[in-house]
Amino acid sequence: MEARFSRSGPLVGTIRPPSDKSLTHRAFLFAGMAQSSSQIHQPLLGEDCLSTLKCLEAMGAVWTATEHGVHLTPAQEWAQPASELDCGNSGTTMRLLAGLLASRPLDVTMVGDASLSKRPMRRIAEPLRLMGATVEGDKPPLRIIGANLRGIDYESPVASAQVKSCALLAGLRASGVTSVTEPSLSRDHTERMLSTLGATIRREGLKVSVEPGAVWSGFDLSIPADISSAAFWLVAAELVPGSEVNLLEVGVNPTRTGILDVLRQTGATHDVREMDGAMGEPVAEINARFSGDLRPFTIEGDLVPRLIDEIPVLAVLATQCHGTTVIRDAQELTVKESNRIAVVADHLNAMGAKVTPTEDGMIIEGPTPLRGAHIQAGGDHRIAMAFAVAGLIADGETVISGFDSVATSYPDFCAHLEALRT
Ligand code: S3P
Repeated sequence: MEARFSRSGPLVGTIRPPSDKSLTHRAFLFAGMAQSSSQIHQPLLGEDCLSTLKCLEAMGAVWTATEHGVHLTPAQEWAQPASELDCGNSGTTMRLLAGLLASRPLDVTMVGDASLSKRPMRRIAEPLRLMGATVEGDKPPLRIIGANLRGIDYESPVASAQVKSCALLAGLRASGVTSVTEPSLSRDHTERMLSTLGATIRREGLKVSVEPGAVWSGFDLSIPADISSAAFWLVAAELVPGSEVNLLEVGVNPTRTGILDVLRQTGATHDVREMDGAMGEPVAEINARFSGDLRPFTIEGDLVPRLIDEIPVLAVLATQCHGTTVIRDAQELTVKESNRIAVVADHLNAMGAKVTPTEDGMIIEGPTPLRGAHIQAGGDHRIAMAFAVAGLIADGETVISGFDSVATSYPDFCAHLEALRT
């Protein structure tokens, strides 16, 4: 599907962005491991999270969509699925589920779409093999033959919540404690949720450990909005003169709020009003306003995992900042739904920006006017939406092919844009 975007008048209004993708995956998985039924309110029912639900269903869970969300009754014992599990476009489904399958007496093959089939799985195969599981395939298809696992003390070479979560979830049914140390702190939703569900989780700096044996009853949980989806409006409000956007119920776990730090670096004006959240996850209302005269920014080191999914749209923002923006230490971008360093640099340059890709990021000279171009989203939802935002400030029309990929995380993106435009 093609979508077309052109220069926009002010974006004004209040929206609740879609619910958090990472939290929805975890809520479904943890409901699938519970002793009784759970009710997940306002889950994200985008394609990625539906992949997680369908995989659980293939192993015996029963779920229904209710007026407010999803009611899920777990299987007492996970059953051998009749065929391969299809994880679609979702790395989170494949990597977290791998951790849960590794300790179960099952022999399961997981497959994915063209994009997922290119993504690295050795990063999770390695800790799972060390724990005693049989894992075949360093890229999908990934076959997991479960075993009685032993706890390990794992030093992860990458700051990846998916790797960390995979090992911690396997550790729930291993003998002994499982620890993961990562180079920088990645999102910690798994730790927070497991801890509220009763698992013993200990953190010492960058090392987190889980004790085996936790069991929990079904739960009721409401999922906050996704800061990674709110990101498109936070940036659009900065770029489109006269804009003022109010974003409701946004999850503001500090391991996810790097974008707010970057907006502060640019001199942008926004207010964050925090409120109580559930399962250890803080929530806020965020008001973002156009302020003009943006300063360039630097993204590096520990900041990278706190905004890894927001880098495509922040690169669009950088094209309008006065000076040189530097993004480094972000090699992980090359193994996301697409190679986001190459794709962002190529497409922004096609729109008239001055972007130099590097091995681990990019250098962006601004400000440069943008002109409409034909963008191939290449099956990557965040590329599609980042360039939709670029289209709002470009001269002429920006045509984005493969825009249907937004169904992965933000099925209502175009409806929300229309609501803010009128
Ligand atoms: C996710 C973690 C991040 C992020 C992805 C979702 C998660 O990936 O990019 O969109 O839900 O754990 P990595 O942890 O592999 O960097």
